[in-house]
Amino acid sequence: MRLLIKNALIATASEVFPGAVLSERGKISLVLRNPDASSLLEASEGAFAIDAFGMHLLPGGVDPHTHFDLDVGFAKASDDFYTGSIAAACGGTTTFIDHMAFGPKGCDAFHQYIKYREISKDSVIDYGLHGVLQDKSQASLESMRVLKEREGVSSFKIYLTYDFKLDEASALEVLKKAKQLDITVCVHCEDDGLLADARKKLLQSGRKSPIWHASSRPAQAEANAIKRILELALQADEAKVYIVHLSSEMGLNEISNACEAGRKNIFVETCPQYLFLDESSIQTEEQALKLTMSPPPRKPSDRKALWEGLRNGIIHTIGTDHCPFFYKTQKIRGKDDFTACPNGLPGVELRMTLMYSEGYIKRKLPLTRVVELCCAQPARIFGLGSRKGDISPGLDADFVLFDPSAKYKVTAANLHENVDYTPYEGMEVEGAPVMVISGGKIIVNSNEFLGRKGSGRYLMRS
Ligand code: URP
Ligand code: ZN
Ligand code: ZN
Repeated sequence: MRLLIKNALIATASEVFPGAVLSERGKISLVLRNPDASSLLEASEGAFAIDAFGMHLLPGGVDPHTHFDLDVGFAKASDDFYTGSIAAACGGTTTFIDHMAFGPKGCDAFHQYIKYREISKDSVIDYGLHGVLQDKSQASLESMRVLKEREGVSSFKIYLTYDFKLDEASALEVLKKAKQLDITVCVHCEDDGLLADARKKLLQSGRKSPIWHASSRPAQAEANAIKRILELALQADEAKVYIVHLSSEMGLNEISNACEAGRKNIFVETCPQYLFLDESSIQTEEQALKLTMSPPPRKPSDRKALWEGLRNGIIHTIGTDHCPFFYKTQKIRGKDDFTACPNGLPGVELRMTLMYSEGYIKRKLPLTRVVELCCAQPARIFGLGSRKGDISPGLDADFVLFDPSAKYKVTAANLHENVDYTPYEGMEVEGAPVMVISGGKIIVNSNEFLGRKGSGRYLMRS
């Protein structure tokens, strides 16, 4: 099918211009700038035409950090690949890269990859998978090579806290192997020793209510871990590291220092929850449970520093870390003991809207920068730049049309995420993703999902 989108204001990571885009057989075949009537007429021959007058046409969003179907043992994230990918699509995201959960003790990364290829096949949009490394055994290191070469898994995550954390020597081994194989290592940066100490003090003094979760994970723990992982990456001949869910000014300062010292191969992600929420968002136990995530919401000064990091380019991407649990039946587990609350927040559906409304419209972040953060850089960093994240001939025909004139209040009732709340309830936003196109097909129109279960393709990444 030929699809023509005309009269749009096209926004890429480098420019915004009036134009039209033609797609054929799922790929972009033509991008016309300021087209005259005759070139438009020629392009529209045999095409289904969409008049996008007054709309911004962006590349479909690329969310580099989701946790669909995440099983943490005592709870399972409430969005699976089907419901989660519908929510992503309705919010203007047409590609995501999911982080696989830890597997049983002793398993290599292949074990989880096989499981995830099975559970992900209902996705309605294209997706990739980040590998997970839970030890540095020979089998795990070898599975990095096999997964990269045969399955296109070009990034792996390690954790410096949680049950399957890697100690420094193990993290260094992984980084060295990653350097050899040209793999990007995503790192959850929190200093486990510092967390254990903070948690012990709180629990011993009876401070177990959910409002103490944030105090159990201080910003210093993030900064320590970032400093250390950057040193280890240097030791591994500047292996590529990607800091996930950066939350604090202290952590950002460690990264800025390294960049000022001329370091290369450092990539940084933050998430909407660290840009729009802070400790003042937690006034009640219910709010504390709903916002229990790691790292926790920080101070207003941290939010300010992160916005500055978005402007000056130290931060490369916006991911969601989408990991929802129902408040009433799952989060509530932690009501008398914050350590029993499953960690994580919903967010996959609002990432593009929040960055368009609060970034571009209200804070005057250039729209090109929003596209860079939400589409182009996640695609490039994770080996999808030749297919996703931009609007140019040859790329996949994935788009989102934003109506800048829409003004409304966010409410969970209008979202497709399979969860009973949104952290952004009541927020007044401007701009709505009114139409979403994946592979040249309209999959969302006016907040209604029109796509098909299983139509998303697994993406081999370079
Ligand atoms: O609290 C969070 N972020 N849960 C998801 C897992 C992780 O640490 O990314
Ligand atoms: Zn994490
Ligand atoms: Zn995560």
